[in-house]
Amino acid sequence: MEKRSQWGSRLGFLLAAMGSAIGLGNIWRFPATAYENGGGAFFLPYLFALLTAGIPLLIMEYTIGHKFRGSAPRSYGKISKGMEWLGWWQIAVSFIISTYYPIIIAWAFMYTYFSFGQSWEKADSATTFFVTDYLQLADAGTFGSIVPSILIPLILVWAIVLFFLGRGIKKGIEVANKIFIPALLVIFLIIVVRAVTLPGAFDGLDAFFKPDWSSIFDGKVWVAAYGQIFFSLSIAFAIMITYASYLPKKSDITNNAFITGFANSSFELLAGIGVFAALGFMANQTDQAVSDVVSGGVGLAFMVFPEIISQMPLPGLFGVLFFLSLVLAGLSSMISISETYIAGVQEKFNISRGKSITYGGGLAAIISLFFANQGGLNLLDTVDHFVNNYGVALSGLFEVVAIAWFAKSLKDFQNHADEISDIKLGRWWRVSIGIITPIVLGFMMIQNLRSEIIGTIDPETGERLFYGGYPIEYLFNYGWIVSIAAMFVGALFTLKKWPAN
Ligand code: PHE
Repeated sequence: MEKRSQWGSRLGFLLAAMGSAIGLGNIWRFPATAYENGGGAFFLPYLFALLTAGIPLLIMEYTIGHKFRGSAPRSYGKISKGMEWLGWWQIAVSFIISTYYPIIIAWAFMYTYFSFGQSWEKADSATTFFVTDYLQLADAGTFGSIVPSILIPLILVWAIVLFFLGRGIKKGIEVANKIFIPALLVIFLIIVVRAVTLPGAFDGLDAFFKPDWSSIFDGKVWVAAYGQIFFSLSIAFAIMITYASYLPKKSDITNNAFITGFANSSFELLAGIGVFAALGFMANQTDQAVSDVVSGGVGLAFMVFPEIISQMPLPGLFGVLFFLSLVLAGLSSMISISETYIAGVQEKFNISRGKSITYGGGLAAIISLFFANQGGLNLLDTVDHFVNNYGVALSGLFEVVAIAWFAKSLKDFQNHADEISDIKLGRWWRVSIGIITPIVLGFMMIQNLRSEIIGTIDPETGERLFYGGYPIEYLFNYGWIVSIAAMFVGALFTLKKWPAN
């Protein structure tokens, strides 16, 4: 068998792991989530989630990858035969994400270009520009035609991603992250320094940090904290197992997990400060309250930020920097998510890395075209919601329960990590993974499913609305079917035997 590829240096691995963790979730998900869940008080459940779920699970996934030196299904399969399926399920989920994540990076690319002349100023508002002029959005369920201004940057995104993947672990993924992550940090620091020195910035920061201590007693807030930590650290995506499988024998796993975890959270905090300072500025310029301008996700990046940028001094420069930071954060996460299936397929079918990239990456690239049409935004929003809740979070629950309760491997993994790490794991580690995490994730699942099925009542029409207000058949076809299909596709891959070597 050919020798397994390895990272060239410890820093290389750390930057790649951080590159995966630091993504769009840090920039547009964390600030709004923290604000809505208690502001300054959110840091308590958040820190608790980081220490009882984020870092412990990172240590576990690093240990699994390092010990078994295989892709997620191969490594899980060595814990117990029945667990191989979990690895393929997580890979299937990652595959699905890798078909729409590049679309967002493509938009950001295009917006980097639009920033030079603030193209959105030609429309009535930045929102109209994004939805109507740029995306040419059609109703949910109609797909219309492919939008060239999405397609062209999309091709560029795939070219970059496949180029670095094609060069392998050390010369490709490691080099990419060594460029992207320091560049991202520098660019982002410039943006944050600028944002906090704008008029009104302080009002934004005040809104962000003002603690609402009563939120601490709300179960929802704790679930939000765990959800953010899980998503942000790329846990239960098969990513960290895959990346850790390229670690050399002598690697301090526990220390690496702490560094990744704290670096990611520091970046989240930085993003929270930058985003809220900018929102404070916007509120100040438009005579609104900060609470009226808060948003997250696609809306924050492509509808609110263009407005903010237009009102800043040197809008061209800061527009380019902001959208470039989204591109860099997105690319490094995209590379990590694609590596999961490239590694899995290569091992299972005993083919070369090049072939695996051609089949896996090629198929993902073709499917991503379905999101490059006029119905792309709705489709992306729906698939993302379902796949995150019933793919990532649910498979994460399966993962901890299978390992801690059925395979009873925690003690074994603890010994493995302790042998090569400076910091020794204590009981807190096993309790965090075996008890605290399953309880919180289980509670999260029940709560999510309930609100999914019950929906909400529209106060005006009295109609029952489900996720995003989309029609039921639409949610069924592109939400439920897609997330359940990931489990079945995972099972299909499990049927094939591993090659003999
Ligand atoms: N950790 C990433 C983020 O915060 C999540 C992610 C990783 C999403 C890889 C997609 C691909 O954005």
